[in-house]
Amino acid sequence: MACLPSMFCTTCSTPTIPTHYSDKIPNFATFYDAMVQELLNISLKGRNSFGVNATADRIVEFDDDASLLEYLTVHKAENRGRLAVLGGGNNILFTGDFHGTLLHPTGGKIAVTAENGDLVSVRADAGVDWDTFVGWCESNGLWGAENLTAIPGTVGAAPVQNIGAYGAEAKDIIDSVELLDLETLKPATIAGCHCGFGYRDSIFKGALKGRIVITAVHFRLSRTPQPRLGYAALEDKVAELGEPTLTNIRTAVRTIRDGKLPDPAVTGNAGSFFKNPVVENATAERIAAEYPGMPSFPAAEGKIKIPAGWLIEKAGWKGHSRGKAGVYERQALVLVNLGGATGADITSLAEEVIADVERKFGIRIDAEVNIW
Ligand code: EPU
Repeated sequence: MACLPSMFCTTCSTPTIPTHYSDKIPNFATFYDAMVQELLNISLKGRNSFGVNATADRIVEFDDDASLLEYLTVHKAENRGRLAVLGGGNNILFTGDFHGTLLHPTGGKIAVTAENGDLVSVRADAGVDWDTFVGWCESNGLWGAENLTAIPGTVGAAPVQNIGAYGAEAKDIIDSVELLDLETLKPATIAGCHCGFGYRDSIFKGALKGRIVITAVHFRLSRTPQPRLGYAALEDKVAELGEPTLTNIRTAVRTIRDGKLPDPAVTGNAGSFFKNPVVENATAERIAAEYPGMPSFPAAEGKIKIPAGWLIEKAGWKGHSRGKAGVYERQALVLVNLGGATGADITSLAEEVIADVERKFGIRIDAEVNIW
């Protein structure tokens, strides 16, 4: 495999924080005890939010860059084969055993790296639990992440699919991403503006897929309150609670999520299984003519985003199941493991839903979840 090309950030106008391609990243590890742990033939059941059974040949847990580098040097020298990264396992469906090595970041450090008036730069290790990070922001009076409360997953996974909810996306606050190139074993930093962020998309799902490990993310946050209440249900819920404080916004988001989304600790799921399709205006008009009241949202290039959950519900799938795999009864965008489902059970339900929506509406919906 060739070295990573110069698609990495070379110039950038974003102010504050590290914005340029760099092979010198701060060695935060100096202050902590480094740790790398290798686990062989390990069950993945407790490591994926769908709770499906699968085994990985090897999992390598590392808590800093030095440990990762140490392991990868051996891995390369011994030609140990396939490598992939497993964060919280919240956006993955295993359809079989994983033959190879899964790299699992466990570092948990969060630190302010710079302050510039109202702007505060924060670096978080890839292994930090996402909601712990959002809670840390709340405790420190920092605005920007609050609408993304309670999204399951890790900091390192946030840029990969540009997590989003309630009118906010991770890209709004990501300043840069630290990573390690799996081919050259060199660290690099890529600025947010060069991460190719789109709707549930980034360069990490495209050109850099399988070629890097994200080791930390730098965020740009604000001390000045910046409530984003454009999502009507959020505005209403916050108003019920009082002032639009960080705490009230987080509570409101949690309440809305709890009402619609299953808790993976109770019912296996990976959040939205599908992406909302973006279609031509004419297609949206054709469907709306048949279904007055169809929800839709403007998207880029004059196109229209139609909620996949609505299409799936109208196709009659909400609350229905095939064996141990089901379409969640309160949000049709979510597929659930009703207990003991295999990855194949869930993908076969997904395929049926996709085919049915296509037959009924002439729109193809795509999986958002990574299917392995
Ligand atoms: N809808 C239905 N039936 C359903 C689900 C939704 O008719 O079963 C309709 C709703 O009535 C509403 C519209 O679809 O009019 C949108 O629903 P919702 O606000 O719940 O949002 P969504 O488009 O279904 C997206 C994200 C969620 C995120 C919410 C809130 C994607 C793929 N999903 O869902 O993200 O929480 O918006 O911002 O974009 C996730 O990525 O895992 C996730 C849960």
